[in-house]
Amino acid sequence: MKINSVELNNFRNISSIELQATDGVNVIYGENAQGKTNILEAIWLFTGCKSFRGSKDPDFIKFGEEIAKIKLSFSDNTREKKSEIVYANKKKNVFLNDVPLKSSAELIGSFYGVIFSPSHLSLIKDGPSERRRFLDTALCQLKPSYAEHLAGFKRSLMQRNAILKDLHLSPQLYDVLDTWDDSFARYSAAVISERLKYIKILSEYSKEIYAGISEYKEDFSVSYSRKDISDINISYKDLYISELEKLKEARKDDVIYRTSTVGPHRDDLDISINNISARSFGSQGQQRSCALALKLGESEIIKKITGETPVALLDDVMSELDEKRQDYILNHIKDRQVFLTCCDPSQVLRLCSGKSFLIKGGKLT
Ligand SMILES: Nc1ncnc2c1ncn2[C@@H]1O[C@H](COP(=O)(O)OP(=O)(O)OP(=O)(O)O)[C@@H](O)[C@H]1O
Ligand SMILES: [Mg+2]
Repeated sequence: MKINSVELNNFRNISSIELQATDGVNVIYGENAQGKTNILEAIWLFTGCKSFRGSKDPDFIKFGEEIAKIKLSFSDNTREKKSEIVYANKKKNVFLNDVPLKSSAELIGSFYGVIFSPSHLSLIKDGPSERRRFLDTALCQLKPSYAEHLAGFKRSLMQRNAILKDLHLSPQLYDVLDTWDDSFARYSAAVISERLKYIKILSEYSKEIYAGISEYKEDFSVSYSRKDISDINISYKDLYISELEKLKEARKDDVIYRTSTVGPHRDDLDISINNISARSFGSQGQQRSCALALKLGESEIIKKITGETPVALLDDVMSELDEKRQDYILNHIKDRQVFLTCCDPSQVLRLCSGKSFLIKGGKLT
């Protein structure tokens, strides 16, 4: 996968830029608050996923303007493509090769990218919801059917919780709860089963990548954390039966707490270095290396499944890493197109050749 050019108009602090990319490493550098991350964010939106900053569509429009336009020209293994997204105040228009699409989600599968931004450190540092979000986003980009299962699960979770809240007022709702338990267990099993398969492959790739980053001095592991799953190859059917069983066991607590106390919305990932929790005991550099290993592992999976090498979008990736770890990252990503942001380009350019772009006040100079 390769980006040929990126064109942005009234996107965040950028009035108008056109960036002609090189096949290798594209370094976007400049002082703080000039628009570096904004460029990566715009590129990321063409994956069809939501902003990695959690922003909403109207946030993309430059203050004081009414319309923002972003265009991407890119090539996959077979041909050249172009895509355009137009953000107006309450409306968004998405095009792929000039054909209008219903939503940006329809872009999923056309352009593949992997983003690493400092906010991804929360993957290691923060609570379980960040790790579930990482898993869900990665799987949604790969499998539209996962997005459907997840949406179905969220619906049944909402319904089940609504019933649990009203149960003390209307005990007849107990019968309805049984029906929702079944739907909840079906969707839970579908979601967990995909997550287990994904983590199984991810753990192999990330382990190898982390070993490389640490010069084989540290051992990284990631696993799906859920009580009572001893066999990660468990079938969908067995998972469904075990989920139903768990709901039965948890019914008493669910009624007391008026919420669903078990399910994939409570699961987590265990991430450790040398068998010690990376979250509780990892250093800054180790935590950053873990997040990178997971993100680069994600990229390897996309490559394996789709045959397309995702474009790596690395936002401020070098800080906190020592020279050896920086070297590994830059060498590891040599076989793909990279967009990398930093304040000082010398650390990157000493290691690789490529094209560099200076951004100042939202303008490329
Ligand atoms: N909708 C918007 N309209 C105008 N400016 C915006 C909008 N959204 C964000 N900005 C501004 O864009 C500027 C650049 O943001 P960006 O995150 O790209 O900086 P950066 O170059 O990556 O800086 P750093 O090195 O600190 O990460 C910020 O000062 C921000 O206030
Ligand atoms: Mg930035």
